[in-house]
Amino acid sequence: MDRNLAMDAVRVTEAAALASARTMGLGDLHRAEEAAVQAMRQAFDSLDISGTVVIGEGSEAEVPVIYVGERVGRGRETDPEVELAADPLEGSRLCARGMPNAMSVIAMVRNGHFLRVPDTYMYKIAVGPAGKGAIDLNRPIRWNLNSVADAKGVYPEDLTVVVLDRPRHEGLIREIRETGARIKLIPDGDVAAAIATCRDETGIDMLLGEGGAPEGIIAAAALRCVGGDMLGQLRPRSAVETEQIKALGVDVVDQIFTMDDMAQGDVLFAATGITDGDLLRGVRFRRGGAVTNSMVMRSKTMTVRLIEAQHRFDRKPNYGDL
Ligand code: FBP
Repeated sequence: MDRNLAMDAVRVTEAAALASARTMGLGDLHRAEEAAVQAMRQAFDSLDISGTVVIGEGSEAEVPVIYVGERVGRGRETDPEVELAADPLEGSRLCARGMPNAMSVIAMVRNGHFLRVPDTYMYKIAVGPAGKGAIDLNRPIRWNLNSVADAKGVYPEDLTVVVLDRPRHEGLIREIRETGARIKLIPDGDVAAAIATCRDETGIDMLLGEGGAPEGIIAAAALRCVGGDMLGQLRPRSAVETEQIKALGVDVVDQIFTMDDMAQGDVLFAATGITDGDLLRGVRFRRGGAVTNSMVMRSKTMTVRLIEAQHRFDRKPNYGDL
């Protein structure tokens, strides 16, 4: 994936983050989403790609922009053909309530593809580079925690596992607690939590539990770029979702997908913080502008770039302007 494209990808997530950050704490989920989606869509037009959205905001019938199948980018003959996974506002409730870890993310893949998933759930286990190869969804939770603890040279009691705070995770939380591992319950935002396993300073060792399947693909793309590991198993909630999964080419619905199954090829990942979080600081508005913090990384080189940008609104009146 082209290096220059990496900087352009960050501009896209910056635009969405700046727009939705204006709505932080207003309690209006829809407004926060809408601001991020519109700014990201506008910013896409400046990308030198022939892109197709494969993970987006919904189907063409459901949403006007960033829908699955939408063509984005300049689309000139010389522009690379890429698949795109976008979540303009990952953690809409977090943004609407001014809580940590809302961010804007995109992932692109060239010479490969993302696993196609509908809007369903996925059971996920994600770890950082030290736990790579030490996870297995066919084995019990206890086995996985012991295995990752061994790989890291620590006791299971030393591990911190992030779990989405949902009633469906009651049993999972009990199982983790029985091993003595520590738990961090989060209200939303399991993409940030998956990436946090790869960053020592967060103190997070593992993500476990069911979250959105599209978010699972985005997390797998990110973890490919930082040498982490992840497994996912789709968890449809209805017969309709099961059919949607099959229609997208997954015959064995309970198949366990590896990180490479979910994001295959040259991956580029970019994220910008909207609210302060484990990974990134949120948008800070100041006189005449704002400051954003982003991360951009590519699977080819595995370089992680952390970018602080100072934006001047007298030069860039629309968030989508690059
Ligand atoms: P949204 O930004 O789309 O609201 O997603 C937030 C999120 O917490 C994801 O990080 C997570 O994968 C998913 O929702 C969990 O879904 P649910 O809220 O239905 O448990």
